Amino acid sequence: MARREPPSWSRAPLAEGAPEALAAWLRRGELDALDGSGAVRRFERAMAARLGVGWALATASGTAALEAALAALELQPGETLLAAPFAPAYVYQPVLRAGARLAWVDVEAEGLGLDPADALGRLEAEERAGARVRALLAVHVAGYPARLGPLLEPLARRGVALLEDAAQALGARLPEGAAGAVGTAGFFSFQGAKLLPLGEGGLLATRMGDLYRRALRAGQHPARIERELGEAGAIPSFQHRLNPLAAALGLAQLPALDGWLERRRRRAGEASRFLREATGGELQVLGAAPGFRPAWLQLGVRLPQPLAPEALEELCQAAVEGGADLDPLPELPPPGAGGPAPGELPRAEEARRRTLLLGGAGSLLAEEEAFREVLEAVVAAWRKIGRSGRRPRGRP
Ligand SMILES: Cc1ncc(COP(=O)(O)O)c(C=O)c1O
Repeated sequence: MARREPPSWSRAPLAEGAPEALAAWLRRGELDALDGSGAVRRFERAMAARLGVGWALATASGTAALEAALAALELQPGETLLAAPFAPAYVYQPVLRAGARLAWVDVEAEGLGLDPADALGRLEAEERAGARVRALLAVHVAGYPARLGPLLEPLARRGVALLEDAAQALGARLPEGAAGAVGTAGFFSFQGAKLLPLGEGGLLATRMGDLYRRALRAGQHPARIERELGEAGAIPSFQHRLNPLAAALGLAQLPALDGWLERRRRRAGEASRFLREATGGELQVLGAAPGFRPAWLQLGVRLPQPLAPEALEELCQAAVEGGADLDPLPELPPPGAGGPAPGELPRAEEARRRTLLLGGAGSLLAEEEAFREVLEAVVAAWRKIGRSGRRPRGRP
């Protein structure tokens, strides 16, 4: 199949004044930040204040922030981490590298986030079978906040950490607080296709000073460990530092974030109305329950029924050719890479065949008219492929 080219409007946004702010910062020559001072420190403080947490640790990527959290929890070989679907498959790999095991939690019937009742049921089953479950990894998929409230007390009582993958959800809110700031620790990604694009980067956020200090000891430069913790001669196990250039860009991009989020919210409302009307209700944009506010990195577009994988692929391809940025949900890791066995997560499997993701870093920031063309391309692709794709191919 021909390679799919992303439409040009999916380029990451740049805040007004960001290039000038970055140039001024470069001219000041503040590139030396091994000890986590300067732009890195200011960016961490700005993010911690925004999220309402005491501690934020900037890292080289979102996955590096998860790795720092796992090191801080001292996840041991043979221990278990319960994980929810729909982060990219590589995100789960640090768990396996620590020698721990992944067990899986299914998603809600009508959403992309974990099902709290299923999570508790599987946690109990794991414990009955003798597993030592150390943490649950929840994913706020495409910016839709997962339902975590019912898990907070039962997990705390058992001493199981709640890790939030908020890589796609900066600015999303749950009734209990900001996505990424509700559990034991949350992590974010600043890679180019995310809500606050810095090229690359990540951040670990936590209310727990002790977890922050252990993450710092595990994966930052000894000069920073000495400056902040007063411990000389530390030998951290990895180096996951954020480039100060990205931190300086982060400080320049951050003031634009709320405006971007508001624009995404408006585009989500327009998409919901347009797709419903144009397809007689066949295509529905996933919404959010009362009290939940998505960050709308992408829109979940729900099909009336599951499609075969080839039909999904063809539908996305047709939409991309028409100028829309439509993708399937990420595949789960295969069983050989820690993924669930076929049939183990029936609702996640159905969600993957019934839900597509529309939009990327910049597409939901397009002007209303340009975005209307994107929606028309989705509808045209649906008319061309989706409806017939509901029948097994080759049959009338
Ligand atoms: C849901 C989710 N989790 C984690 C990550 C990992 O972030 P990074 O690519 O910065 O390591 C991503 C990035 O694609 C993501 O989409």
